[in-house]
Amino acid sequence: MSQDISKVAKILTAQSIKGFYNPFTHIKFPETLDRRNWFTSPELISIYGSSEWEALSEEQRQTLSFFETVNFFSLNVHGEKSLLEGLSRRLYDNNDADVTDYIHHFIDEENKHMYFFGTFCEKYAGKIYPDRKLIFPREYAEGEEEFLFFIKVFVFEEIVDYYNVTAARDERVMALSREINANHHEDEARHLAFGRVILNNLFKTYSPQWSTETLAGVREYIKNYYMTTWREYYNPDIYIDMGLAHPYDLVSRTFESTKAKEHRATASRASLNYLKKCRIIEENFEL
Ligand SMILES: [Fe+2]
Ligand SMILES: [Fe+2]
Repeated sequence: MSQDISKVAKILTAQSIKGFYNPFTHIKFPETLDRRNWFTSPELISIYGSSEWEALSEEQRQTLSFFETVNFFSLNVHGEKSLLEGLSRRLYDNNDADVTDYIHHFIDEENKHMYFFGTFCEKYAGKIYPDRKLIFPREYAEGEEEFLFFIKVFVFEEIVDYYNVTAARDERVMALSREINANHHEDEARHLAFGRVILNNLFKTYSPQWSTETLAGVREYIKNYYMTTWREYYNPDIYIDMGLAHPYDLVSRTFESTKAKEHRATASRASLNYLKKCRIIEENFEL
């Protein structure tokens, strides 16, 4: 791997060591939570601004903000589980000792995050919403599997970070949820930096040897992965828990609404711009 990734990995390792904490004492989880609170920013709630939203009382909206947060935290648990699998598989698998060192911190931090997200869900909702993602085995061109693994990490972490930052800054949001979001953002800043450099690196290394079809396939994959990731933010299980009518219909109507499309465009803008800058996707790429 090239020089700059070693340099970045070294800097990030030093920062991780400096920011090291004990997850079991770092955040205090009270025995119970009052659901008459905002658990996330109302604007981040999937049905925000719809007629169904307008029909809810303030109390119902706050309860919905609780289930939306349980969904957001649940999808972090699922994302981090597969991230840990993928990262563990890559330990000592490349010849760059600095990258290996940093992967140890990456794994350590993701495991801590999962503990926070999972504890919140289990303790206050008594469950984690099940994972809806399906994975199909397939063949890859050289470097393609590696690149796609880091694309998945990138899309997942970049979107999550938009939610973390928004909720962490929002004074309406209750303290524990703000703290979990803020702490996650702090660690993720390093993962995002690493993810961006490694993606650019892998693309520069392997894409010149890929066929036109492989490259087109990779770009199609990126688009689909964004959409699959976004779909998880509109979970019918939330609406079932809220007792809302026609939950599946509500998912498709909300997902297709102009408001939701604008929201996704805003939340995906920074990451898409980065991919365009690296020429990983073309200028006219749209979700
Ligand atoms: Fe994380
Ligand atoms: Fe992360």
